[in-house]
Amino acid sequence: LRIAVLAGGLSHERDVSLRSGNRVASVLKHLGHTVIVLDVDARTIASLRAFGPDVVWPLVHGGDGEDGGLQNVLIALGLPYVGTHSDGCQRASFKPTAKATVRTGGVLTPDSVTLPKAYFSQLGAQDVLGVVAAHLDLPVIVKPNQGGSGLGVSYVTDADELRRAMVACFSYDERALIEKYVSGTELAVSVVNTGEGPRALPPVEVVTDGQYDFDARYNPGRSEYFVPARLPQETLTRVQETALTVHTTLGLGNISRTDLILDESGTPWFIDVNVVPGMTETSLLPLAAEADGDLPGLYDALVHSPLVT
Ligand code: DAL
Repeated sequence: LRIAVLAGGLSHERDVSLRSGNRVASVLKHLGHTVIVLDVDARTIASLRAFGPDVVWPLVHGGDGEDGGLQNVLIALGLPYVGTHSDGCQRASFKPTAKATVRTGGVLTPDSVTLPKAYFSQLGAQDVLGVVAAHLDLPVIVKPNQGGSGLGVSYVTDADELRRAMVACFSYDERALIEKYVSGTELAVSVVNTGEGPRALPPVEVVTDGQYDFDARYNPGRSEYFVPARLPQETLTRVQETALTVHTTLGLGNISRTDLILDESGTPWFIDVNVVPGMTETSLLPLAAEADGDLPGLYDALVHSPLVT
C-alpha cells in the first residue's frame, strides 16, 4: 500500500508525535509498504494529493490532531484513514464531555469541576480553593481540559499548590479540569478494531516513582511497565471490558487507549482516553501490541481496514 503518515503539527506534543510517526513508518516500511511521513503544515493537502495515498495514518497528538480537525480534512479529501471519525475525536478529546459520555455507559469516573482561566484570574488563591472545595475534597488533580502526555498536570493537596497548578495548567489550555484524586494502580488498556469489532489488548500497568508526567513517559527507564498488569485474570477482564465500553460509548474507530486507575477495592475509574495514542518506543499501545504477540501484524491489519467516510 501507499501510506502517508501524518505527524508533527503545532501542539505541545509535536516532538512526541514525530517520534510516533517515525516509529510507525519504520514498521510499515519493513512490511513492504511505500510510506512517507509528512510534518503537518499548510502544504499537507498538496503533498497528500501529490503522493496519492491508499491510506493515511494521522499520528498528530493533541490539538487539532485529536479534536477532529485533522480528521475533518481527511474526510473532506475522501481519504481512508486509520483512526476515529471527527465526531468521536471531539467527544473523546474534551475531557469533561468524555467523562459525561462514559458515565452513560456505566463507567465510573472521578467527580470534577471545570474552571475557565478568565474566571480564575478574578479570584484569589483562597477563593479558588473555596470554589473547588464546594464540589470536591482535596487532594485533586488539575489538568488541561484537552491535551495529553501529562503536560500541565499537577497533584494538589492545598491552596498554594492549587494556585500554582492552575497557573501551570493555563499555559496549556484556557480551561482547567479539577478532578478528585483516586489512588490505586495505574493502567492503560488499548482497544483496536481491524474490521471484526473492537478488541482490547493486554492491560499495561505503569509504575512510576512520583507522577507519571512527561519526563516519566518518554525517558526510557523512568517508569516500569508490566504487561499484562499484575492482576488476577478476572480483574484484567473487567478493566478490558471497561475500556471496550469507553471505546463504544464514545463511538471510537480503529484505535484508542483508555487510561484507568484501579482503586484498592478493585474498581476501575476512567481517567482519560486517547484517540491518537502515543506510538513511541516508550508508549503503551506498542507495548500492549508486542505482548499480544504481533505488533507488525496489527499495524498491517490496521492499514488494511481504515475508516472510510
Ligand atoms: N497523548 C500521548 C501521545 C499519549 O497519551 O500517548
